[in-house]
Amino acid sequence: MNNFPAFLRLRDKQVLLVGGGDAAVAKARLLLAVEADLMVIAPKVHPEIAAWAVAGQLKWTARSFRPSDLFNSSVVFSATGLEQVDGEVAAEATLTGIAINVVDRPELSSFIVPAIVDRGAITVAISSDGASPVLARRLREQIELLLPANIGSLASFLRSFRTAVRAKIDSFDARRRIWEEVIDGPIARDVLAGRLSNAREAMVSRINRPQGRFEGEGHVAIVGAGPGDPELLTIKALRAIQDADIVVHDRLVGQGILDLIRRDAQRIYVGKAMSDHSVPQDGINDLLVTHARNGKRVVRLKGGDPFVFGRGGEELEVLRAAGVETSVIPGITAAIGCAASAGLPLTHRDFASAVTFVTGHGVDGEPDVDWAALARPQHTAVIYMGLSRASTLSEKLIAHGRSPGTPVAIIENGTMQNERVLIGTLSGIPDMVRSAQVGAPALIVVGEVAALADAARGLAFQAAQQAG
Ligand SMILES: C[S@@+](CC[C@H](N)C(=O)[O-])C[C@H]1O[C@@H](n2cnc3c(N)ncnc32)[C@H](O)[C@@H]1O
Repeated sequence: MNNFPAFLRLRDKQVLLVGGGDAAVAKARLLLAVEADLMVIAPKVHPEIAAWAVAGQLKWTARSFRPSDLFNSSVVFSATGLEQVDGEVAAEATLTGIAINVVDRPELSSFIVPAIVDRGAITVAISSDGASPVLARRLREQIELLLPANIGSLASFLRSFRTAVRAKIDSFDARRRIWEEVIDGPIARDVLAGRLSNAREAMVSRINRPQGRFEGEGHVAIVGAGPGDPELLTIKALRAIQDADIVVHDRLVGQGILDLIRRDAQRIYVGKAMSDHSVPQDGINDLLVTHARNGKRVVRLKGGDPFVFGRGGEELEVLRAAGVETSVIPGITAAIGCAASAGLPLTHRDFASAVTFVTGHGVDGEPDVDWAALARPQHTAVIYMGLSRASTLSEKLIAHGRSPGTPVAIIENGTMQNERVLIGTLSGIPDMVRSAQVGAPALIVVGEVAALADAARGLAFQAAQQAG
């Protein structure tokens, strides 16, 4: 680290900005945000600067820089982009001992301006020490994504209770513990979710509770992990996973996603292949309730979306009945993720005006399906868990009017590195599954759109079928 990071208080301080172009607009916007007393010197300025001047938000003097302009300024920015002028401003500022920043010229500057993430009271500043402003901006984008949108509101909320907490709780350690509990617990979650009156009420009761161990209230987040590619996790899901004390996960959640769990968090595998119910549903429900009641932040991590053939609804009911605070974070369901990955549009103006997600495996094995509705034209059927009933599916759809030659795509391990896309026809499904030895997880897509799946990936099976 070559530069000392610090935040300057510039409210009501005179700041000089030399230049009137785009770079000057960007600097002026930041300086106005911190309520600096801003003076702009430039013969001509961008209309935005002119408008701020008219509105009385800054003073604009329409002429070139003079050394006397530095008088009374705490800080000066030079953003003319003209080598000679920027050099002159830097030399004069250095001579007078005023802090100077020349845009894109670290060698002329006594301080550099970092890339900034601005969320109200929370500001994150990133510097690459002038090595690569573009890399610093990339990092800023990543941090922007990681921070909850209203983290600034949380900071303001916490600030509004600082005096009350200090007045009520003497010990520094006890105060620190309370802040940690609040930031990691349901109060902060309420603020971030916009439930401010709940949060205020809970905070007041927390402050007034006799000191001692805080019985943290547990929480379960039912989280969709998406179809397999870790990059298809939502930002909210990632945050919940990294925040969890315990992650209870299914077989469909792959290693790439499990690697995102905090190292010190407990992982509980509850399995579930059709033939192997590692932990029965009742056992899973008990686990969730028990850990939440013990004050843990539990993530129930499920493949795809928890509410699409995922039994998330049943778990939510049990948790609600047990009075456990629960939230649901959606995931990209297999149909959506696999279709995108295979380049297969589920609806299409020419071929399909509706799409149905259906399970090929009912409660008692046999699917409970309205075959006539599923077989209608201009319609895409996406069949989950259909492999073991491939023959039935194909026969029933044909019997209810779908043409045997209707295009079909089978997507195995969709969105993952070992994804396979097979393209064939409705009558050929059982043969496709058998001869290509398709394994779970796989989706069967029936409808004209299936023929649009990535030709390159579908080619192998199509060619084999035509040859046969
Ligand atoms: C119990 S369901 C869970 C569905 C999940 N909740 C979702 O929204 O995608 C499991 C079935 O989803 C489908 N599936 C899940 N992930 C898949 C993937 N990556 N590729 C293909 N099919 C997948 C398969 O049909 C698998 O048998």
